[in-house]
Amino acid sequence: MVTLTIDGREVQAEEGTTILEAARESNIYIPTLCYHEEVTPYGACRLCLVEVARNGREKLVASCLYEVAEGLRVKTNSERIASNRKMIMELLLARCPNNKAIQDLARQLGVEKTSFKLEDKQCILCALCVRVCQEVVGVSAISLVNRGVDRQMATPFYEPSDVCIGCGACAYVCPTGAIGFEDVGDTRYIHWPNNKMEFKLRKCKTCGNYWAPEKQLDYIIKKANLSPDAFDNCPDCRD
Ligand code: SF4
Ligand code: FES
Repeated sequence: MVTLTIDGREVQAEEGTTILEAARESNIYIPTLCYHEEVTPYGACRLCLVEVARNGREKLVASCLYEVAEGLRVKTNSERIASNRKMIMELLLARCPNNKAIQDLARQLGVEKTSFKLEDKQCILCALCVRVCQEVVGVSAISLVNRGVDRQMATPFYEPSDVCIGCGACAYVCPTGAIGFEDVGDTRYIHWPNNKMEFKLRKCKTCGNYWAPEKQLDYIIKKANLSPDAFDNCPDCRD
């Protein structure tokens, strides 16, 4: 364990954990958009900026990436942090001026308007969807493609992905709701910012409800070496 101070409070944290994790353990709020505890931190949104001081030097770092250390002094809410965070939030608001999640967070951080050029995007390129698909689901159906202003989240070649199983984890984890997800009758629809796919849902042999994508169930059966009839019934009708 190491001992550090966050906003003047002495905090103990396990070596190898990040400042963000240590702060959350101690109920100290740091805003984030691209962080999720189930996947590798990526440092995309920069909202989690904090100020660290060590050996007399102070600098701004992304708390989701920066590891705790003995004697580290961390500030989560100095004037310098607040003004940097506001500028980052203004940039996000300019990119996604009509996105409710971004508008709400901007308001919470005291940003009502932006002085940057307005776009009309919903995706902030945080790559949470990409990381969850790769690290949690294990299929890598989507990725961030292109560079600079053309950077986008997409399936390979913007075509329907062969490997996507329609689980919807990308939509679930997206902080801005940029990925649409809907089950209608026997079909699941997933709408990414640049393309969409449809998935046939399996019908429960007992109650007749459509409950999960065929591709997702086949994937689990194969991965876990289950019997082919393991998912003939939905969870409600299984004994
Ligand atoms: S679609 Fe959502 S989760 Fe994926 S990169 Fe964009 S904002 Fe992040
Ligand atoms: S949460 Fe740390 S950079 Fe986004």
